Amino acid sequence: LASIEVDVASLEPGMSLTVKWRGKPIFIRNRTPEEVTAAADVPLSDLKDPIARNANLPADAQATGVDRSGGKDKENWIVMVGTCTHLGCVPLGQAGEYNGWFCPCHGSVYDTAGRIRKGPAPENLAIPTFSFVSDTKIKIG
Ligand code: FES
Repeated sequence: LASIEVDVASLEPGMSLTVKWRGKPIFIRNRTPEEVTAAADVPLSDLKDPIARNANLPADAQATGVDRSGGKDKENWIVMVGTCTHLGCVPLGQAGEYNGWFCPCHGSVYDTAGRIRKGPAPENLAIPTFSFVSDTKIKIG
């Protein structure tokens, strides 16, 4: 399938879902306000990869909290390809030093916006093409 639609109505803040798209795991998370704030408060100069890696934005968009999310009025939502940018393992959610994602293979640490903060991975977790077709339905691809 080129694109899929995912019903996220049951995802309360703090809940995640993993779906498969084009053979890859896609992490969808309704972030808590604390997670959103933690991501938004990080200066870009602290980031190992300051590029958003968001397929919905220009290639040079910066990895701000909002540009890593579902957008201004959907900043709580995060949609990412769940494969570590080091060698492709699947990171664990709500784990690691930044309470984001942690890759157990070689210890890459991602923050609550899926941005690489420590370890060997070179890039932030990729954000696929996605859009909200309604308040509770996300189209991926
Ligand atoms: Fe994730 Fe190596 S594959 S740290």
